Amino acid sequence: MKTIALVCLVMCLTFGMTSSQYDYGDSGEDGDVLSSHNDHGYHGCRHRVAFSAVTSSSARYNSGTTIRFTTVKTNYGHAYNSGNYRFTAPSNGLYVFSWSIGTHKSYHGETKLMKNGSTYHRSHCAGVYQQCGATITIILNKHDQVWLESSNSLTYAFTGYSSFSGWKLN
Ligand SMILES: *[C@@H]1O[C@H](CO)[C@@H](O)[C@H](O)[C@H]1NC(C)=O
Repeated sequence: MKTIALVCLVMCLTFGMTSSQYDYGDSGEDGDVLSSHNDHGYHGCRHRVAFSAVTSSSARYNSGTTIRFTTVKTNYGHAYNSGNYRFTAPSNGLYVFSWSIGTHKSYHGETKLMKNGSTYHRSHCAGVYQQCGATITIILNKHDQVWLESSNSLTYAFTGYSSFSGWKLN
């Protein structure tokens, strides 16, 4: 185990020193240019992924149904699937997820972040045009899936105000 960690560290250091093309922090280029690297987010020993998706139409969601973040704003590394609205971890590690639901008058914004079918965290608001969500850090194993579900049959996601984002820290 120690040997593997050491080899990985050496590879990461070597990779980091020899690949200046991944230093795109101040290049001023947009997401499309980033994805044209065509490396699917794989950078030596880590999988760099980040996504943001939003709803494409306003809807009410029955309890237990997945919130449909159909419109992808960013999907660097392609870990978010806009067909089933789930994020799949490309590797073991530390991840952050953030979401925000804009409700409608007399509806709720009651949601739960799901990790492989179990509730990891909840967010709730009710009343007139509330905005509610949460930001959470999770340790995931490779292939673990994360998505957002309604936990109240009066949950409503107003389009233009409802988003789901996530990224890998390391
Ligand atoms: C989570 O679900 C994925 C996809 O079904 C599966 O590959 C993975 O092994 C599951 N992880 C755990 C910890 O059950």
